[in-house]
Amino acid sequence: MNIKKICKDVIWVGADDRRLSLFENIYPLPKGVSYNSYLILDTKTVLMDAADASVADVFFENVESALNGRKLDYVVVQHMEPDHSATLGTLLQKYPEVTVVCNAKTKTMIHQFFGDTVTISPMIVKEGDVLQTGNHALQFMMAPMVHWPEVMMTYDRSNKILFSADAFGSFGTLDGAIFADEVNFEELYLDEARRYYANIVGKYGAPVQAVLKKTAGLDIQMICPLHGLVWRKNLEFLLDKYQHWSTYQPEERAVVVAYASMYGNTAQVAEKMAEKMDAKGWPVRVYDLSKTGRDFVLGEVFRASHLVLASATHDGGLFEPMEYLLREMVSHGLQDRKVALIENGSWAPMAAKQMQTLLNTMKGIQIAEPVISVKSALNPAQEPELDKLIENFSLL
Ligand code: FEO
Repeated sequence: MNIKKICKDVIWVGADDRRLSLFENIYPLPKGVSYNSYLILDTKTVLMDAADASVADVFFENVESALNGRKLDYVVVQHMEPDHSATLGTLLQKYPEVTVVCNAKTKTMIHQFFGDTVTISPMIVKEGDVLQTGNHALQFMMAPMVHWPEVMMTYDRSNKILFSADAFGSFGTLDGAIFADEVNFEELYLDEARRYYANIVGKYGAPVQAVLKKTAGLDIQMICPLHGLVWRKNLEFLLDKYQHWSTYQPEERAVVVAYASMYGNTAQVAEKMAEKMDAKGWPVRVYDLSKTGRDFVLGEVFRASHLVLASATHDGGLFEPMEYLLREMVSHGLQDRKVALIENGSWAPMAAKQMQTLLNTMKGIQIAEPVISVKSALNPAQEPELDKLIENFSLL
């Protein structure tokens, strides 16, 4: 059992998971993940979402402990993805008198996931509806596609808390803290928050913008997401990040060099490019796409303004690690980046053409001239060409 009070009558009853290797069975979790759930202790008791099956034992212990013998009156289901609702069926069995509060889409999904194993008579809510639980007035706001169609958020008018579902969440366990202002967030969590955003919500920039506009008129003193730390100070920092990410604007003028190299020759050109950009004073980070997962690099391309993409040619096409990254960038709607291209091929370099084809499907991409085409290894005679590329790239 491990519960944390986040204000006088709201208790965090979630759990950390350090064992899971892959979130959604695809995204690595080197720093784990937390599944947040919150209990409001008012005249009526309200549980804000359930949790993943992997933390069921701790979650139910936490709920029981926080209730301290009281009855559970409501469970608000903001999101039906199983990382938050897999334990809902068991919760309904443990607390048969609880009233489920959800929207119509959620009700359908509850039946899809649980079939006849649960019987519910939910309180169906829609945009702007308010649930009065005593001192608290919980106002519901629909947030479709942040990150599923049924998602809704809840604004606690009395405590001025926004229960934000997946939005404003992060990968990474809580490690004893609960508030973002208790840790060095920029150093310890920002990269994981960005990677979480880019991969999980990144495709849905327009719906995130719609929610940001909806919440702009509210007096929000605290944000309680379903993953990661709770925000009670410096909310502007997080909102600014979301403004950049959801409009696909880079956070900073910085260079990300990502290369897909078979024998190290393409990597050498990419490293030389990094060295020269660094010498010009640019912040630079370099990634080998065969080593670093494309989900990590996707987070990085959401951060940086300038991308150097260097790829070998493989079987007449793009070397697959680069193709995978570019397809992720396309499918997540990335826009407005400055790009330098380097290709390699020992008999017929084709990578640049294929990178350009994919980049041309994205909005606001500027490709610096010249594109560097290497045959097997960089020829010293190509140095001036590389310098010209750096000069032009830096001006974009
Ligand atoms: Fe954390 Fe979309 O679930």
